[in-house]
Amino acid sequence: MTTLLNYIKKRTNANCIWLMRQAGRYLPEFRKIRAENSDFIKLCLNEDLSSEITIQPLRRFEVDAAIIFSDILLVPYALGQTVSFKKDYGPILGNLNYNQIFKAEERKFLEKLNPVYGAIKKTKERKELKNKDLIGFVGAPWTILIYMLNRKSPKNKDIIHSLNDRKFIDELLKIIIKFLKLHIENQIKYGATIIQIFDSWAGLLDMNNYDKYIYEPTKELVRFTNSKNTPVICFPKGINDYKQYVNVVKPDVISIDYSVDPKEISENIDITVQGGLNPNFLLGDKEELKTNVKKYLDIFKNKQYIFNLGHGVLPNTNPNMVDYLVKLVKNYS
Ligand code: CP3
Repeated sequence: MTTLLNYIKKRTNANCIWLMRQAGRYLPEFRKIRAENSDFIKLCLNEDLSSEITIQPLRRFEVDAAIIFSDILLVPYALGQTVSFKKDYGPILGNLNYNQIFKAEERKFLEKLNPVYGAIKKTKERKELKNKDLIGFVGAPWTILIYMLNRKSPKNKDIIHSLNDRKFIDELLKIIIKFLKLHIENQIKYGATIIQIFDSWAGLLDMNNYDKYIYEPTKELVRFTNSKNTPVICFPKGINDYKQYVNVVKPDVISIDYSVDPKEISENIDITVQGGLNPNFLLGDKEELKTNVKKYLDIFKNKQYIFNLGHGVLPNTNPNMVDYLVKLVKNYS
């Protein structure tokens, strides 16, 4: 029995926890592998290492799920745009070759991402994953569109001005959605039991643009994933109105960021809620962490709630604090 999935389907009432970026730079065992693999995309496409990194946090902590070690930018990569990562800067994408993108073939896309599916299959077979879920993921169409156009993480809302060429953007968005579906479908086929959609840049848009760039495209992915009997967790970071998002997009679980008031969410949203705690609390002292963890658990006590953070674990986090957090949640009653 997988805890998280059964919880989402309302068959159990356990305290559930997993963490965004639970595998990553705060773990010395990840840093060791990373030091020997300077090309991050290649590392994501190494089946054995990707599977190994995916289960690293499960060896240390009693989390209820693993998230496959990969990246949302593998989709632009598989569409033919180069992607690299510069230390202390973030991702750098190459020029968009329109002809190449508009002619992208499913077969070639899947061939490039095949190691991700191989890593999922391998991870599912590991003993550490017994009774645990394996979360697959994609970036939301809007966030992928932004990366493909801006070619790096956006600093501010200026990028919105480059959305003027409506016809081109519409076509690009369609292609992105088509290939995100294909990526979701294959992650499920090889063993992902839940899909999370990361809309890290939802907060850049004004509300009058939500329909076109966030709601409609994401709703399409949610429906598609649900048609494969798989639940979806949506994380529209920085969105203005979580309640409206839930009503329109209809995910199975809504993951909230740390800027929203959890009390307001608990009073206004009826579906399963995930996350919220500011990852910075893992950098402070245990008492302060405990107070804030308890705050979220108390607020969502009579609700369906999956414990997680309001964004990923920060690289300078002490793994002992993560261990303390997981134990706090598991022992809460
Ligand atoms: O959560 C997990 O543990 C699973 C793996 C995962 C990674 N990236 C690994 C990673 C997931 C789910 C992601 C999602 C992702 N990638 C998002 C959405 C979530 C969010 O953070 O908002 C985004 C926007 C990206 C794009 C991306 N990839 C950025 C901006 C960066 C640079 C981050 C930084 O702090 O430098 C990455 C690189 C990346 N992806 C790392 C990891 C572990 C760090 C790589 C390194 O070792 O340098």
